[in-house]
Amino acid sequence: MHVLITGCSSGIGRAAVEAFARAGHQVSATARNLAAIEDLRSGNVQVLRLDVTDRESMRAAVEAARRWAPLDVLVNNAGYGQAGPLTELSQEEWLEQFQTNVFGLMELTRLVTNGPGGMIERRGGRIIMITSVVAHVATPFSGAYCATKFALRAISDTLRLELAPFGIRVVQVEPGPIRTRFADNSLARAARLLSRRDTPYEFLRSAIEGRARRSQVGAAPASSVAEAIVRAAVARRPATRYPVTWQTRALKLVRSVFPERALDLILARVFGLPTRPRP
Ligand SMILES: NC(=O)c1ccc[n+]([C@@H]2O[C@H](COP(=O)([O-])OP(=O)(O)OC[C@H]3O[C@@H](n4cnc5c(N)ncnc54)[C@H](OP(=O)(O)O)[C@@H]3O)[C@@H](O)[C@H]2O)c1
Repeated sequence: MHVLITGCSSGIGRAAVEAFARAGHQVSATARNLAAIEDLRSGNVQVLRLDVTDRESMRAAVEAARRWAPLDVLVNNAGYGQAGPLTELSQEEWLEQFQTNVFGLMELTRLVTNGPGGMIERRGGRIIMITSVVAHVATPFSGAYCATKFALRAISDTLRLELAPFGIRVVQVEPGPIRTRFADNSLARAARLLSRRDTPYEFLRSAIEGRARRSQVGAAPASSVAEAIVRAAVARRPATRYPVTWQTRALKLVRSVFPERALDLILARVFGLPTRPRP
C-alpha cells in the first residue's frame, strides 16, 4: 500500500510515517521544509516537499509520489490552530487558517482523486482526514480553528457519499488532546495578539494562553493517533470515524445529551469566561 501524508515534520504526521513504514507500507512523507523530514527517508519512505498553501508544490509532490507507485491512501494531516477571540483575529489570520486547514487540503484531495492515474480513474483509494474533537464542540479562544474542523467534518461527510461510487472511502480520525508541537505553534501564531494591550480581552490573556496549552493537558502520545490512522487505512470496511482519546468520546457524549445552555455554562467555566457582563 502506498500512502501520502502531509505535515510529517512533527507530531501526528511523523508518528504516522513511522507506523506505516513499520507495517511495511510505502510512504511518501511530505513537509513544507524538506530538511525537517530527511531523517525519515528509508527503503520504503521517500520524502517530498509539500506546502498545503502552495499549489505548485502539491502538484509536484503528487506527481513524484505517483511516479514511485499509484497512490492508495492520502492522509490529510497538516494543520495548525490559530488561537485568539474571533473578533480580535485579522482577516489575514482568518484567511491563512482556512487556506491551510481547509482550502489547501481540498486542493490536494482534488489532485489525488482527479485526472489520469487519480483515485477516481483507478476506482479505488482511501482518504483519511485528521479532524478533531473540536469538529463537534467549538471552544472559546480557538473559534477559527474549530470552524476549520467543523468545515472539514462537513467536507468529509459529503466526500464520503460522493466518492463511494468510485470505490474511494473517506474516513475521519478525531483526536482529542495529543502531545505534539500543536500548542507551541498555536501560541507562536497568537504572539501578536497576546502582546497587544489595547484589546477588550486583556483581562483574559491567561485564559487565552491556557486554551492554546489545553491540547497538551492529559494528552495522549501521537502514536495513538498513528495507530488509528493505520487501522483506518487497512481495514476492509473502515468505520466512518475513529475517535482517539477518552476526551473525544466524553465530549461527543456531553454534546449529544446536554442542553446547549448547560454546555455553554460548562465551557465558560472551563475556559475562565464570566457569564455576566463585566462593568
Ligand atoms: N495535538 C492535538 O491535540 C490535536 C488534536 C486534534 C487534532 N489535531 C490535528 O492533528 C493534525 C496534526 O497536528 P499535530 O498535533 O501533529 O501538530 P504539530 O506537531 O504542530 O504538526 C503539524 C504539522 O502540520 C504542518 N503544517 C502546518 N502548516 C502547513 C502547511 N502550510 N503546509 C504543510 N504542512 C503544514 C507542520 O509543519 P511545520 O513544521 O512546517 O510547521 C507540522 O508538520 C492537525 O491537523 C491538527 O489540527 C491535533
